[in-house]
Amino acid sequence: MKQKKPLYEGKAKVIFDGPEAGTLIQYFKDEATAFNAQKKDVINGKGVMNNYISEHIMLAVGERGIPNHFISRMNDREQLIRALEIIPVEVVVRNVAAGSICPRLGLEEGSVLNNTLIEFCLKNDKLGDPIIAPEHIFTFGWATPSELEIIIEDTLRINDFLTGLFLGIGIRLIDFKLEFGRYEKDGLIEIMLADEISPDNCRLWDAETNEKLDKDRFRRDLGGLLEAYQEIARRLGIKIPQNN
Ligand code: TMP
Ligand code: ASP
Repeated sequence: MKQKKPLYEGKAKVIFDGPEAGTLIQYFKDEATAFNAQKKDVINGKGVMNNYISEHIMLAVGERGIPNHFISRMNDREQLIRALEIIPVEVVVRNVAAGSICPRLGLEEGSVLNNTLIEFCLKNDKLGDPIIAPEHIFTFGWATPSELEIIIEDTLRINDFLTGLFLGIGIRLIDFKLEFGRYEKDGLIEIMLADEISPDNCRLWDAETNEKLDKDRFRRDLGGLLEAYQEIARRLGIKIPQNN
């Protein structure tokens, strides 16, 4: 069998060549990192959970007409995805103050924002993903104004949809991070959602108790990360095979 060739290794995923032109394979690892990988560990089974949870959410987002890179789940750890040219901008959506915005702006964790806030960070680990303004995105050519308009529109629709989806299972969507890319087909370029949507890149709090059911369990040494991800999957109605 032909050995798959890794094209890119990130902190939580590996990207391989896909079986056909225009496709890639996204492999979910068990590594958990935080604070730009200053803190790391391996949490057995995390990759499998994120693969299934992200599949579920990407399919649902796609059904709402928001284009994304997901094609199919191949097995417990791999997804077939469309090959995109990734836009090096992380789109952070905040409904409630938590995480880095609290010390940065002197906010109390848990305070509800007056409106949904979108922040942009440059996707560059060496620089620690610095926060940037739209003007930086245009000046340095990371995306055009019309591309950013589509990204913002898709992001707000995803936030509305996910907020409702999670509230329906007793979870508050506090914040999350998205990535987008360009997909070229027949000479046309379409902006698509990329990466993953999972408890690794969302803050999810139980609606009754405000218990954290996301990667903050690892970031803050709260323990029980896998159990929290299993609880998210269970409430979403996702069946995940055991022994991974
Ligand atoms: P922050 O509060 O640390 O800026 O994170 C905001 C949201 O973005 C949170 O849901 C976690 C997610 N996130 C990532 O997915 N990747 C990252 O590298 C960072 C810094 C945050
Ligand atoms: N994923 C990032 C890291 O490894 C940050 C985070 O999610 O907190 O450092």
